[in-house]
This record gives sequence, structure tokens and C-alpha cells, in this order.
Amino acid sequence: MISSRLTKIAELINDDHDVADIGSDHGLLLILLNNRKFPKKVLGVENKVGPYKNLEKTVLSINNPNFSSNLSSGLKKVDINYQTIVIAGMGFATIKEIVLDDIKKGHKRETFIIDCHTNQNEVRSFFYELGYKIENEVLIYEDKIYYDIIKFVLNNDNTVYSNLELTYGPYNIKRKNDVFLKMCSEKIEKLENIFKLVTDDRKRTNLLNEISILKEFIHEN
Ligand SMILES: C[S@@+](CC[C@H](N)C(=O)[O-])C[C@H]1O[C@@H](n2cnc3c(N)ncnc32)[C@H](O)[C@@H]1O
Repeated sequence: MISSRLTKIAELINDDHDVADIGSDHGLLLILLNNRKFPKKVLGVENKVGPYKNLEKTVLSINNPNFSSNLSSGLKKVDINYQTIVIAGMGFATIKEIVLDDIKKGHKRETFIIDCHTNQNEVRSFFYELGYKIENEVLIYEDKIYYDIIKFVLNNDNTVYSNLELTYGPYNIKRKNDVFLKMCSEKIEKLENIFKLVTDDRKRTNLLNEISILKEFIHEN
């Protein structure tokens, strides 16, 4: 069964954009897009031979001339006409490297859909500083892990974010849905346990501040 994480990622993809999925692995996202009769081009990219062979098989079985794959790294062989770039299931260091390498070539992709599995609180600031804003975000809880799926688009109207919004997500804060509130409660418990072990005054103050922000999110609800 395809994960709800990938289903949510697919739901964030505009029907009028050509899309490239970087690090496609088996190409499950391509299957989801084909199932919904996605009308535009879809490219799956893999940089490792093993996963690439699986991806190739998926593309063959989809048997749709709009769907293709290539064996390459990051965005190196992704034409600038692909307006939506999905990078999912990778760590922040790899995502950063892929995006910066492309930007160095003067490319400015319209939309990124990012599902980053490490240093999640750095992702929004990174894209914001590159000139992107958050069009939508979905926080999901699957297999006991929280996944923040974020859709970034070019920040053409100079939207400004607070540090709080860049850390927790403007839509997560606004919507305060059950998953977000559950994440806040668990984080409070974790931080309170850390607080008991920390002796440094500055660190204790920072921990207390973060705990109080998280508590406010819960109480504002
Ligand atoms: C954990 S899998 C994620 C698969 C799928 N995107 C998902 O979210 O379920 C990460 C995939 O990214 C690929 N990958 C890692 N670095 C890459 C790069 N620079 N370019 C293309 N693919 C890459 C890996 O080979 C692996 O198949």
C-alpha cells in the first residue's frame, strides 16, 4: 500500500505543472499521479542503479508517453520547464545540496514540494532565504513519525514570516489540527525531560521559552 505521506505529496501537485520527482526510488509517486490521470509530464530521477532499475520498471508498466525517468543526480538533468520539483524522503543536507547546485546554474524553479527527514525546522528558513514562500503545508503522523510536507512557491509578493512561523509552519500554527497539537504535546514532554537534566542557565531559559510557546499553541486552540 502506498503511504499516506506520498498520497499527501501527490495532492499538493498542481495539475498544470510538469513535475520532476527527485529520488523517486520505486516511482510510487509516479504511480499515484498516473492513477489520477495526471495530464502533464512526469519525470522520475534516481542517482543509484538499483532504485533506478525499479523506477524504470514502474515507468514501463505505466506505459504513458508523458512519464519518463533518468539516472542522474539531483536536478542536473531536469529541464527548466519542469515547474514543480518534488524532493521527498531525504535529509536536509542532500536537499540543500541539490537545490543550491541548481540555483548556481541560475535556475529558479517555480515550486518545490519538500518532505525532509532531518533538521525539519531548518527547511522553511532555507527556502525563504532563497526567495520562496509557503503556499501550503501538511503535517502527518505515520509509523510513529511526524512528516512536515511543505509546498514552496516563488515569494513574488514579499511575504514575511516570524521566526515562530519559520520553525513550526504558518499553516500549522493557523490550523492547529489534531496532528499538530499531538506533536506539540509530545514535544513539551520531551523538552521537559531535557530541562530536568540541563544545568546551563541560557539553555534552561531557551527550553522554558520553547515549552511556553508550545503550551500557548495548545491553549489557544
Ligand atoms: C528514502 S528514498 C525516498 C523515496 C521516495 N522519494 C519517498 O519519499 O518515499 C530516497 C531516494 O533518493 C535517492 N537519492 C538520494 N540522493 C539523490 C540524488 N542526489 N539524486 C537523485 N536521487 C537521490 C536514493 O537513491 C533513494 O532512492
